[in-house]
Amino acid sequence: AIERTLSIIKPDAVAKNAIGQIVSRFEAAGLKIAAARLVQLSRAEAEQFYAVHSARPFFKDLVEFMISGPVFAQVLEGEGAILKNRDLMGATDPKKADKGTIRADFADSIDANAVHGSDAAETAAVEIAFFFPSLNVYAR
Ligand code: CMP
Repeated sequence: AIERTLSIIKPDAVAKNAIGQIVSRFEAAGLKIAAARLVQLSRAEAEQFYAVHSARPFFKDLVEFMISGPVFAQVLEGEGAILKNRDLMGATDPKKADKGTIRADFADSIDANAVHGSDAAETAAVEIAFFFPSLNVYAR
């Protein structure tokens, strides 16, 4: 089915000037950009976005990292977009990510791991709404 998913290019990859290289991989895989914007998250926004991880030991570092600079948020649309994006990203820990994945090529650590992608249809809907009012998402 045609799906939408939220992708975030994290502060580490934005700082490396890798936005274009990463977006190129999405486009080459047949995903379409249905919305996009560069955004500096506030601490409260980052805490809200990652609320599901609030009890985890890495939560504080995760929030600090996500507000360390602007992120590039996009809605990716296409056939099986959620799984396709996760395959392109590779494992959360870049040491475990398959060769040729975004995290294998651009991530430095499990914290500075270049990208985030929604993990399921329900979370995708919530995460897309967090960054983009529906009138700013365009069917592709
Ligand atoms: P992301 O997909 O954005 O979701 C939560 C983030 O927490 C994850 O990517 C990692 O960057 C970060 N993180 C740090 N430590 C861990 C861990 N042990 N397990 C999962 N995520 C972690």
